Amino acid sequence: MVDHAMVGDVAALLGRGMADNPLHRVVYGTVEADAARAHARLMRVLVASPRRHVDVVEHDGTLVGVAASAPPGGCRPSSGTRLRLLAAAAPEGPRVAARLVSWTGEWARHDPAEPHVHLGPVSVDRHLRGRGIGGVLLARHTRSLDASGAVGYLETDRPEAVGFYRRFGYDVVEASDVLGVRCWFMRRAGG
Ligand SMILES: CC(C)(COP(=O)(O)OP(=O)(O)OC[C@H]1O[C@@H](n2cnc3c(N)ncnc32)[C@H](O)[C@@H]1OP(=O)(O)O)[C@@H](O)C(=O)NCCC(=O)NCCS
Repeated sequence: MVDHAMVGDVAALLGRGMADNPLHRVVYGTVEADAARAHARLMRVLVASPRRHVDVVEHDGTLVGVAASAPPGGCRPSSGTRLRLLAAAAPEGPRVAARLVSWTGEWARHDPAEPHVHLGPVSVDRHLRGRGIGGVLLARHTRSLDASGAVGYLETDRPEAVGFYRRFGYDVVEASDVLGVRCWFMRRAGG
């Protein structure tokens, strides 16, 4: 669980960092400020949930990158967290809530049955991408996987992120359309 004082900053970065992701545009709409605000409200619940591990990169005291992950057995939110997520989505209205349920349900349907560390969301502030910050987060994440021997798993809706994750040992195990958006499901072998 992330330090309580950082929850708001982490959630805000995840909200604005992913506002132009294809699925976010379908779910929340194409006005990025609205998508960022709506998603940040959900992320505030998710990153504050007890079993979520949150790793961050800061630069000059400012948060610039975040990688959240759930330990084996922890990737499905508890019923309490699910209720809080629904409450956080409610102000966006029933259309957004229904799309969120379809999206998360469809991704959950692909979750491997084997024990795994579930990576995501991962986000680097937009103006700082391509400078190695995501690489730092993934290097730490994969070092920890290698130390424990755990299988890694993630989903992404960004084609350019697939190559990035491949660089860290993830392979695409499946691809399918969710709400009309292509998603890739990636696994990293355990030790
Ligand atoms: C994917 C992401 C975390 C990578 O972080 P980063 O700090 O830009 O990564 P690095 O600088 O270490 O490495 C750059 C790599 O990321 C890829 N990348 C993916 N999206 C990118 C973007 N929008 N801008 C720049 N590089 C991007 C580059 O193609 C490059 O891949 P390569 O190593 O195979 O050439 C970051 O671009 C991001 O936050 N994207 C938006 C949110 C998202 O889609 N997250 C992943 C899906 S859950």
